[in-house]
Amino acid sequence: MSQNLPPDVVLKVDDLSVVYRTDRGDVKATANVSFELRNGEALALIGESGSGKTTISLALIRKLPRNAVITSGQILYQRNQEVQDVLKLSNRQLREFRWNECAMVFQGAQNAFNPVLNIRKQFEDTAQAHGWTDKAAVRKRALSLLQLVRLDPERVYDAYPHELSGCMKQRTLLALGVLLSPQIVILDEPTTALDILTQRAIIDVLNDMQRQLDFSIIFISHDLSLAAELADHVATVYAGEIIELGGVNDIFYRSLHPYTHGLLTSVPTLDHAQDLLQSIPGSPPNLITPPEGCKFHPRCAFADDICRKENPALTDDVGAHLAACWHKDRLLESRKARA
Ligand SMILES: Nc1ncnc2c1ncn2[C@@H]1O[C@H](COP(=O)(O)OP(=O)(O)O)[C@@H](O)[C@H]1O
Ligand code: SF4
Ligand SMILES: [Mg+2]
Repeated sequence: MSQNLPPDVVLKVDDLSVVYRTDRGDVKATANVSFELRNGEALALIGESGSGKTTISLALIRKLPRNAVITSGQILYQRNQEVQDVLKLSNRQLREFRWNECAMVFQGAQNAFNPVLNIRKQFEDTAQAHGWTDKAAVRKRALSLLQLVRLDPERVYDAYPHELSGCMKQRTLLALGVLLSPQIVILDEPTTALDILTQRAIIDVLNDMQRQLDFSIIFISHDLSLAAELADHVATVYAGEIIELGGVNDIFYRSLHPYTHGLLTSVPTLDHAQDLLQSIPGSPPNLITPPEGCKFHPRCAFADDICRKENPALTDDVGAHLAACWHKDRLLESRKARA
């Protein structure tokens, strides 16, 4: 393919839209999403449940449910300066792409292991499915990865899934995910089923793994404090759109979009476990008939006529920090007034 990408870009998503066909109409779960992922970067997708985060990640590896249709976009992937569109890969190329190039650890993935096979067999089967049959070499790599995720490698390698705690299973799954040295690892709410201390431990492990193995991460979470610990860049997803994208400090300390700002000011803390969205009035829109204009306008304190009529583009008035809002100055001004 004749596409060119900057050498450090591993993934470029351009104008991606996905709808789910249902009896009640088309659910517009992803609308015109664009972003880039660089070598060694961790990008977090944040947003409340139902905003379209999982749909984006499933589209990236073409694992969408049957009723989904990709209605626009390109997903360009680069390795050794060769660029391919994931949406145009053959079935054989797609199998290679998953695991070898782009591994995904799903939501609630602790149940991903086959209960009747021990961990060793599951590593060997994964390796074999991708043409790697040297069991001694698989074992060597698996043990070093299990060590990296801070497990007792020998013990875990010969264990059955039911002999491992949820946290151990999740770590084992991370090790399995990188067995074939993918360039990209997608983690969809990887810690959601775990208690808070275990969640932190998993984030530490991920940071270590990324330093040593040098892959890029797409980290999906509704938990902003976890995203902050891992991410270099953060994209806020609302009603299927990326409505803000920037460096982690830009998003957490200088957010420009009222929705991101609302999410940040409603982060639950350990001793004050309030509902995540208490400070944002209303609820997310129905994605079969989303509102005209800015999809956040029914919930936004700054909304005016233009917001109700026209959807603002994701633009970068402030350096590389992008936001889709007609009134970015409002949050900037209120921040200045408070400083
Ligand atoms: N198979 C499906 N059929 C119809 N609608 C779906 C399907 N899967 C997800 N959706 C809808 O698509 C929207 C986005 O869902 P999802 O990507 O799972 O969001 P998130 O991961 O942010 O919670 C939601 O409105 C959800 O109800
Ligand atoms: S465009 Fe208008 S309604 Fe949308 S977030 Fe900005 S101020 Fe609020
Ligand atoms: Mg999800």
